[in-house]
Amino acid sequence: MPSRLPAPKPVSGRLPVWSNGPVIDVRTITDEEIPAYVAAMRTGFAGHADEEAIEVARPSIDPDRTLAAFDGRQVVGTARAFASDMTIPGDRTIPVAGVTNVTVLPTHRRRGLLTEMMRQQLDDVVARGEPLAVLIAAEAPIYGRFGYGAAVWRATLRVDSRAAAFAHPVPARTLEMVDLPTMRTVAPSVFEASRAGRPGALARSEGMWDRRCGVRAAAEELAELRKRFHVLARDDAGTIDGYMSYDHRGEWDGMRPNGTLVVRELCAASPDAAAALWHHALTMDWCVRVEADDRPVDDGLPWLLRDQRQVVTTDVTDFVWVRVLDVPAALSARGYGSTDRLVIEVDDRFRPDLGGRVVLDASPVGATCEPTTEAPDLTLDAAHLGAIYLGGTPLSRIAAAGRVREHTPGAVARADRLFLHSPAPWCSTWF
Ligand SMILES: CC(C)(COP(=O)(O)OP(=O)(O)OC[C@H]1O[C@@H](n2cnc3c(N)ncnc32)[C@H](O)[C@@H]1OP(=O)(O)O)[C@@H](O)C(=O)NCCC(=O)NCCS
Repeated sequence: MPSRLPAPKPVSGRLPVWSNGPVIDVRTITDEEIPAYVAAMRTGFAGHADEEAIEVARPSIDPDRTLAAFDGRQVVGTARAFASDMTIPGDRTIPVAGVTNVTVLPTHRRRGLLTEMMRQQLDDVVARGEPLAVLIAAEAPIYGRFGYGAAVWRATLRVDSRAAAFAHPVPARTLEMVDLPTMRTVAPSVFEASRAGRPGALARSEGMWDRRCGVRAAAEELAELRKRFHVLARDDAGTIDGYMSYDHRGEWDGMRPNGTLVVRELCAASPDAAAALWHHALTMDWCVRVEADDRPVDDGLPWLLRDQRQVVTTDVTDFVWVRVLDVPAALSARGYGSTDRLVIEVDDRFRPDLGGRVVLDASPVGATCEPTTEAPDLTLDAAHLGAIYLGGTPLSRIAAAGRVREHTPGAVARADRLFLHSPAPWCSTWF
């Protein structure tokens, strides 16, 4: 039997996996290798790949940004990145690398393949000048070691529709039920308008919209999408400023309705559109409850209702993780909650060359951030800088766990005043 090597040290992208076996090559793929890549990725996610899955995935794969680990000719690890942009505090956006498809085959895990793919991927993101990398972590313990921190949180809400009386008259909106092809045409601009001012919101590419709206989807995905209903909200001028996609989970208790309206997406570019769409969901015949996951932790819904307590948050979990790769560029790009000057030392154990000390001169309208040799006010891990970057994770919370070194008394509280942001970061896009 081959023996396992604990924590093998990679040499120029080649990993010895078995003490008496071949090395593993980690490199970008070619067009011809896309089918093998997709098949390995699906297996790594405990699924199966067929021709259709490969063809659906193909257009989103840029071989130049797609890494695979090869054991001989077999793909045993996968990871890719795509260029996008994300809303950040101060109502701006920043270029990001969206990281996805991260898997290692069950036969090749815990031997350093992911570590080597992360190393090569971060090198490439740095070389492209993207100041942030972002991802959705399947499991929380995976990415902190690579400098990613949990920055966006998502809430799952449940509301008893029968007890959900609205506190105030619901704003007038014309609602219209539409099909998926219509959604493909109208939803992108509403989504784009909705993401202004909401840190964490990731731009959706044309390919993502095609997938969401069934233009390019596997039969299985299409069957799920076809179960959905879609409703648009128009203001008095006829402008569409919101949409909702939902499923109806029908259930009956004898002759009494016991159904659930499951909100798949509620996207509003104005508070009035949000109120009208929630009202529509909560007054649906045959439904006694509404469930919605992928909601922001500061959803306004409770404040629409006479009895706020009817909105039960059944779960809050981390969602998007942020990795800051260019500290001066990232910190000077966002807006801040106060005016202050802080010297921050970033301890970057995975990429020490990206860490070090910076002086942040910040205000609500803008900031400068430059390397410095001044004494630091506080020292924090790269992953914790990622966690606080979008304004939804208080540094004081991390400090309460003993994970921040405060050299200047009060520096953590000052950092909270600078970094925390309302509204809370939210990303309604799985990627
Ligand atoms: C997550 C995954 C990609 C890790 O790949 P891997 O090649 O086994 O990772 P590595 O060997 O490079 O692990 C590096 C370190 O992370 C730890 N680690 C990796 N995956 C972990 C997990 N799921 N939970 C806890 N720790 C994990 C390893 O123990 C190792 O720690 P050590 O250096 O202290 O020994 C792989 O387990 C996988 O494909 N899982 C299923 C799919 C998945 O969850 N993908 C992530 C999508 S976001």
